[in-house]
Amino acid sequence: MDIFSAIFIFFACALLGILLAVLGLIVKIYSGKSIGNPNYPPVDGTVFHHECYTTDVRNIEHILKTKFDKYVKGEYMMDIIRDLFGEGIFAVNGGKWRQQRKLASHEFSTRVLRDFSCAAFRRSAAKLARIVLEISKAKQSFDIHDMLMRYTLDSIFKVGFAVDLNCLEGTNKEGVEFMKAFDEANALVYWRFVDPSWKLKRALNITSESVLRWNIKVIDEFVHGLIKKKRRQLFKYHTTDMKEDILSRFLQESEKDPDQITDQYLRDIILNFMIAGKDSTANTISWFIYMLCKNPLVQEKIHQEVEEFINGAKNAIDINEFVEQITDEKLEKMHYLHASLTETLRLYPGVPVDGRTALEDDVLPDGYKVKKGDDVYYLAYAMGRMPYLWGDDAEDFSPERWLDHSGVFQPESPFKFIAFHAGPRICLGKDFAYRQMKIVSIVLVQLFRIALADENRRVTYRTMLTLHLDGGLHVCALPRFQG
Ligand code: HEM
Repeated sequence: MDIFSAIFIFFACALLGILLAVLGLIVKIYSGKSIGNPNYPPVDGTVFHHECYTTDVRNIEHILKTKFDKYVKGEYMMDIIRDLFGEGIFAVNGGKWRQQRKLASHEFSTRVLRDFSCAAFRRSAAKLARIVLEISKAKQSFDIHDMLMRYTLDSIFKVGFAVDLNCLEGTNKEGVEFMKAFDEANALVYWRFVDPSWKLKRALNITSESVLRWNIKVIDEFVHGLIKKKRRQLFKYHTTDMKEDILSRFLQESEKDPDQITDQYLRDIILNFMIAGKDSTANTISWFIYMLCKNPLVQEKIHQEVEEFINGAKNAIDINEFVEQITDEKLEKMHYLHASLTETLRLYPGVPVDGRTALEDDVLPDGYKVKKGDDVYYLAYAMGRMPYLWGDDAEDFSPERWLDHSGVFQPESPFKFIAFHAGPRICLGKDFAYRQMKIVSIVLVQLFRIALADENRRVTYRTMLTLHLDGGLHVCALPRFQG
């Protein structure tokens, strides 16, 4: 064999070796850890990290409660959301989470906030109803999803900062700019989950990342401006009265502990509450309206329940007078409405997939072996439609499944009805969200008969982390009363 043939064979063998190694790597990645280990499934994970998906209620209780300290929000996710979420409750684990959770749960359970939020939701719902009334008089259809997005932002701003953002009417230029920046930043952060080059783009400050940076700047300036204004007001009037909005209440806390509760920290707290509360609530009310359009009988039953419990509902010509009658006590008595909203969340959970990262090797209750660093996801959307969890009629919208024979709401295990998460990190705004959703539903269902603008148009979700409606929800509203 001459020297050239030897060199050729050497390089050909080396190339073949490299090709085989790459092939082996691909097989390993896509077959997961199952090679030589029957405890693992044959296909799992993505190219970059290992994931498993579960709908087993026992596994969910295990990761969210029993082994709470061993399953955390992983660095992969934190890295993606940190620029927008900062050190807010969504983006921290351990001591930092515990401290915020304690402070926020106390604030959220106070009577002052309950009453203040109820009044704020009532006022915004009346505003929404007046806008819908004008549109309905003109016999036009409209996108109620877009309207509800504006409604929840206005409401959360009122409760969060005691500020009228007026996004519903679109009269406050600063408010509209903030809303635009906030929505765009939210979507761009989620985009990072499917864009492996986002870090490079961020370092170079180009394309989507430069737009995100700009939006975060707009958000920061707006929120820091508000914090400064509120601080000045509190200092000027130096009152010891308990303020009603969330920001003022945290500012009062920060006077006691200025090193811990800095302006940056306050920005993160407030922004996280907005991120948590705005889209999830607006999406759920939109899916609820969609369900009412598809199930007019349920719409009528809710209408009857409103008439039974709210005075003056039978002839609600004066919107302001009507909303004033809606109190927390009355809301608690409306079991059918509560069941209908819960049924909506069973089929359309605001966060369709959620998960945690294992801090150490573990075995799930169903026998599946988890390795340190693996992600374990639970599939709330799929679970809501599984006959083995909800019976053969799992895909049907049936508020009755939540009621006992005397019409009283019967809650399910939070590990099975997982829309609000479960365990120590269960949604902090659950009662707050139900209150808001009930108030706006009562006002809309009592004043209007709502129907889809086009029965043939397919209504479905957009693929993203939260369950948005793709292309909005176009409806017609027929006034029930003439006034
Ligand atoms: C229908 C409406 C809502 C749904 C479906 C919902 C659902 C959820 C879910 C699934 C989580 C867990 C997310 C995670 O893994 O980090 C969560 C957490 C949270 N939610 Fe909600 N949420 C709703 C409304 C609200 C509202 C209105 C607020 C407050 C204004 C709020 C505040 C929070 C907070 C602060 C957390 C973080 C809790 C923690 O990490 O300790 N939520 N929510």
